[in-house]
Amino acid sequence: MNDGEGTPAAAGQGRRFGPLGTALVIIPTYNEAENIKAIVGRVREAVPEAHVLVADDNSPDGTGKLADELAAEDDHVHVLHRKGKEGLGAAYLAGFRWGLERGYGVLVEMDADGSHQPEELPRLLTALKGADLVLGSRWVPGGRVVNWPKSREFISRGGSLYSRLALDLPLRDITGGYRAFRRETLEGLGLDDVASQGYCFQVDLARRAIKAGYHVVEVPITFVERELGDSKMSRDILVEALWRVTTWGVGERVGKVLGRDRAGDGKTAGRGDAGASDQPARAPHEDS
Ligand code: GDD
Ligand code: MN
Repeated sequence: MNDGEGTPAAAGQGRRFGPLGTALVIIPTYNEAENIKAIVGRVREAVPEAHVLVADDNSPDGTGKLADELAAEDDHVHVLHRKGKEGLGAAYLAGFRWGLERGYGVLVEMDADGSHQPEELPRLLTALKGADLVLGSRWVPGGRVVNWPKSREFISRGGSLYSRLALDLPLRDITGGYRAFRRETLEGLGLDDVASQGYCFQVDLARRAIKAGYHVVEVPITFVERELGDSKMSRDILVEALWRVTTWGVGERVGKVLGRDRAGDGKTAGRGDAGASDQPARAPHEDS
């Protein structure tokens, strides 16, 4: 049995992972009319057995209506209409709930603008056979970004580095949004009290997964900057991320100090029941 250090290797050892079940690819959209048809088509072609859920925040440019048209002609395509722009985090939470209620075994996060290439999804799903959560990663060997301005790369790398250090996470790409979760993983993350609205939602879920002892694997991806439409990144989104990550980091450190004082050792809570203990031995994963 592993001793649950919370590292990817420790969390995956001696585990046998169950079958994956049907995947639901959740695509949050806000003003992606120029992109929606192409991305849905690419997902359907790359992973024909998967279903797609477009989670649209009542985009003024009519993305939701275009998604309805795609859904009308394809029973693997679904649309979740939300009342207005509430941020990436809220859209994903609603999409996860939609998918969990309907019994999907895998829930995938993917941007609408083509930055996350559907053709790479089979690799993420293969890795998920031996993991609880797979992160598409730009910042591991083999991962890269195409056409991203240096300023954006700096923010993204800096955001991951800061999150990694502040939250003590053994991950390279903590803010990325191309991910595949087993349904059991999402069910174990405590989604009901996730308050993150913007892109720090991604940091929040990665943090929760590691702290809960899940086996998180990073798979290299090529992130291609959008050609059409505009990024929704804003100052407010960055401020929220910086504020929340700092608050979590300080909270964890204070908790550790208090926990150590009480228990007399360095180990504190935070490891969920997803570790090796309740799982049969064998079949360690191989991808990373
Ligand atoms: N429903 C909904 N509501 N969708 C949204 C919202 C919102 O408030 N804000 C953004 N989206 C959708 C966009 O339409 C797009 O499909 C996806 O979320 C990503 O938004 P982009 O605006 O294209 O993000 P980005 O390219 O600047 O940021 C990328 O990097 C971030 C940092 O690494 C993405 O990969 C993010 O997921 C990632 O966190
Ligand atoms: Mn984008």
